Amino acid sequence: MKIEGIAYRSIRHDGDSILILDQTRLPWRIDWLRLTDAAGAAHAIKTMQVRGAPLIGAVAAYGLAMELRADPAGLESVAAMLGDTRPTAINLRWALNRMLLRLRPLPVAQRAAAAWDEAVAIAEDDVETCRAIGAHGLPLIQAIAAKNPGRPVNILTHCNTGWIATVDYGTALSVVYQAHDAGIPVHVWVDETRPRNQGALLTAWELGAHGVPHTVIADNAGGHMMQHGQVDIVLVGTDRVTRRGDVANKIGTYLKALAAQDNGVPFWVACPHSTLDWSVDDGVAEIPIEDRDEAEVTHTTGLLPDGTPGAIRTAAPGSRAANPAFDVTPARLVTGLITERGRCAASIDGLRTLYPERDAA
Ligand code: MRU
Repeated sequence: MKIEGIAYRSIRHDGDSILILDQTRLPWRIDWLRLTDAAGAAHAIKTMQVRGAPLIGAVAAYGLAMELRADPAGLESVAAMLGDTRPTAINLRWALNRMLLRLRPLPVAQRAAAAWDEAVAIAEDDVETCRAIGAHGLPLIQAIAAKNPGRPVNILTHCNTGWIATVDYGTALSVVYQAHDAGIPVHVWVDETRPRNQGALLTAWELGAHGVPHTVIADNAGGHMMQHGQVDIVLVGTDRVTRRGDVANKIGTYLKALAAQDNGVPFWVACPHSTLDWSVDDGVAEIPIEDRDEAEVTHTTGLLPDGTPGAIRTAAPGSRAANPAFDVTPARLVTGLITERGRCAASIDGLRTLYPERDAA
């Protein structure tokens, strides 16, 4: 996707290293950071310089590949270290497992070159997957537009599911971009997504850069908007989908799903194959939820009056805070999943129709 008219991906190759867009600086600064090894990749994932389920998987794969050049025997320990950086998004483990399956059978001397090729393949897979998700979601938007000629389709989204959360295109936002590019009038309600404000900071920036009309709303406003007919569809991404269709995503997603069901608003989840966790059934009981620093809740980051980015305390002095970073929306609240293979019900049967080989495995 483009920044000021120039096409970028969120991972760029530069010789033996990669450049990533530092998301802790956006939207204030566009800083490309060089990563040269696994420790740098792990740091970028942990501190959320890179974030978004598909992107952290791809960056971990590159981190492993870069490290193997210096230490080709360190495959298992480096993969384990990278896999421990964030617990909820299964894409991280999916990418590292794919690397391990490819590299384990090889002689040590061949691993570094093969690892780089596999990391590139993972990134390319993500680009094509996200493009296809957009194409399979587009008919949903076309159908709403056809029913309401003369007015934009109002889409509510949560967190950031755009090109910077993936290698390119995005997941839920890939649908938005393809609809906008097809000439369908769309307008996006952007949940600010406290505590880290990925919506207000990142999604709003991305949509603005692509020329998509949007409005940032407080996280608590969505239910009210739905009651008043101002939301045609909710489109979100996910960090892990279980075999029976439960959906882990950024904290607050579950409340939007409850409000959507109460108001008859369709609630769709964009889900790449790398986000499916066939080993888990009950998402609420079984998906590990990342607990993050309480400072993300007690403080808010933004532009300080002197024009520099920084954090200010917004909670009462001395108060403690809890910071679960994800929640799980049970499958019964999900209208359907949009995958690179098509759309399906959020259920074992729905997923089996699109991914029969996962069931067999
Ligand atoms: O904590 P984050 O910002 O990495 O969380 C990201 C999300 O929750 C996204 O919605 C998710 O990764 C799916 S789409 C890329």
